[in-house]
Amino acid sequence: MMARATLLSVSGAVVCAIGCGAAEPRGHDDRIPRECVIEGRSPESIADVVERVNALPRPVSVACFVASLPRPLAVVASSSEFSAQPAVGAGNPRLFILSEGLAMSIVPAGEGSHLLELGEWVSDTRTIKAELRFPVEAAISHDTPYEVLLDGGITTCGLCHRNETPAPDRPGAYVSEAMRPASNHYVPLADLHDELDACDRSAEPARCELLSALLDFGLVEEVAFSDELATFFN
Ligand code: HEC
Repeated sequence: MMARATLLSVSGAVVCAIGCGAAEPRGHDDRIPRECVIEGRSPESIADVVERVNALPRPVSVACFVASLPRPLAVVASSSEFSAQPAVGAGNPRLFILSEGLAMSIVPAGEGSHLLELGEWVSDTRTIKAELRFPVEAAISHDTPYEVLLDGGITTCGLCHRNETPAPDRPGAYVSEAMRPASNHYVPLADLHDELDACDRSAEPARCELLSALLDFGLVEEVAFSDELATFFN
């Protein structure tokens, strides 16, 4: 698994520390419970995500899960509006948090904002797909993230992610091609810091909370997916 998401094949990467772009340092959004910050290593598999979610205070929000992740975070922002989790305008890109082994995706607003989309790398170009719906009220099982089937032989993910096949040794799970954002869809992380600074907590509380969960809990680094991966249009 050499190239994978290639956290480090970053061209023109910006490394942005906590509060980067902000006029003054700020605390994190106080609606994110302190208990969301837990010990442990970054999730490297879908199973690790299930265990982390089950370790968090319930009901678990997307923001609580994101705040819980160990820093530094490696993040890719995409303005693409064609996915299971479309970006909503320039201020709400789709955000991929990349760890060793896993791509986790969230979006600050819109229909996709209650979802965590997951791709676990099985080769340089293919991932097992999974999805979790938030808030998570009760403990979830290791099968829950694979319950994204449309019907019979294909998942909703397989509509766009090509060459879907059953994952070996994981009943109910499917592997398909991984995709990266088209080059003109990458959004700089500095823009997200500006969005958080300008966020109106009374008008859009959940969005501000999610941006705070991403940016206010330690170092966040801008990275890129490997160029080896296909985009939606090729
Ligand atoms: C409408 C088309 C579409 C559907 C349906 C779709 N995706 Fe994607 N997905 C994309 C595109 C396009 C990208 C490239 C990144 C971007 O620009 O959003 C992507 C990238 C990803 C990635 C990043 C790396 C990788 O593994 O491909 C993950 C993870 C992912 N999608 C998960 C999912 C899951 C899980 C589902 C099903 C619940 C799903 N996607 C359904 C279009 C789609």
